[in-house]
Amino acid sequence: MKLIVAVDEKWGIGKDGDLLKSIPDDMRFFREKTRSAVLVMGYNTLLSFPGSKPLPGRLNIVLADVEGLRIPGAVVCGSMSGLFELLKTFDSDEVYVIGGGSMYRQLLPYCDTAYITKMRFDGGADTFIPDIDEIAEWSISSESELKECEGIEYSFVEYHNSSVEPFPDGQSFGGRDKGIPELFKRYKELSFGLIDCDDSAYRAEAAAILRAVFEPLKDGMTAADTEAFISGGASFGDHLTSSRLAVAPDEIAALNSRFGSDADTYRVCVGRGDLDTFITRLESGESISDIQADYICAD
Ligand SMILES: NC(=O)c1ccc[n+]([C@@H]2O[C@H](COP(=O)([O-])OP(=O)(O)OC[C@H]3O[C@@H](n4cnc5c(N)ncnc54)[C@H](OP(=O)(O)O)[C@@H]3O)[C@@H](O)[C@H]2O)c1
Repeated sequence: MKLIVAVDEKWGIGKDGDLLKSIPDDMRFFREKTRSAVLVMGYNTLLSFPGSKPLPGRLNIVLADVEGLRIPGAVVCGSMSGLFELLKTFDSDEVYVIGGGSMYRQLLPYCDTAYITKMRFDGGADTFIPDIDEIAEWSISSESELKECEGIEYSFVEYHNSSVEPFPDGQSFGGRDKGIPELFKRYKELSFGLIDCDDSAYRAEAAAILRAVFEPLKDGMTAADTEAFISGGASFGDHLTSSRLAVAPDEIAALNSRFGSDADTYRVCVGRGDLDTFITRLESGESISDIQADYICAD
């Protein structure tokens, strides 16, 4: 797991719920590093984004201790133990802790790499992270040349942690997170396989969701299968807000007999908001086949 942050000379990271300084080159660096990644953030950080919306093209996990909170396009986690269990299902190289102060403080020991944009100024911050130059386990592995933006000098510094802590064992989902494993079990039954869409950012987001949530939990479909399906995806016209999840190959025969057809491909047409609707319907106990019937069509 990696951490990415911009700090001022006092290791300040934010003020009044916002960044201290927005440097376009740093924003670009952040976008590139986190493309298609799994992002872990605190609720305040989500609220600081434009429209308080999750970042597109990434799988957003938001830590929030708010009863009943649902955030379209994000997975909400209500506790650190729930988060650890969830993170164990991902490839840790794909996971980035992106803020804010409370997340960096709690998750620093579990990160192997920190990408720190060091800005040489005092931004009068009210939110800080620990000075990792003072932590023995952390050392600098590379540093860019000094750059400058609107009078503020900055550099990109990469740190390495020589003593990464494993996620705690024996944790179980508690409180509000109790439903997560059950939800995952039910996802497995859904057997979705593929996303076709000509919006590459959304395809990447969908691919990340597939890899992260479906693929490790599914039988009979490998990551290579999933990738092959995705890269072979057809264009989907103007429907940039829609995507298509194909039914896994082993379901095609069953669907053909159910719908009296002989199609080689079935697709489940799913818009961005629908993933949330799925979850709500699953949680309310509707049967998988009823939910699928509303989305499946022969291609
Ligand atoms: N410079 C940068 O690169 C950078 C990056 C990201 C954010 N920021 C800045 O950082 C500031 C926000 O940081 P922050 O520390 O105030 O907020 P934060 O870490 O973004 O979010 C805090 C929220 O997460 C919840 N939370 C934290 N730990 C939790 C846990 N273990 N279980 C359940 N919920 C948990 C908190 O709930 P409770 O209140 O119930 O604890 C609170 O609602 C902003 O100014 C933002 O702009 C800077």
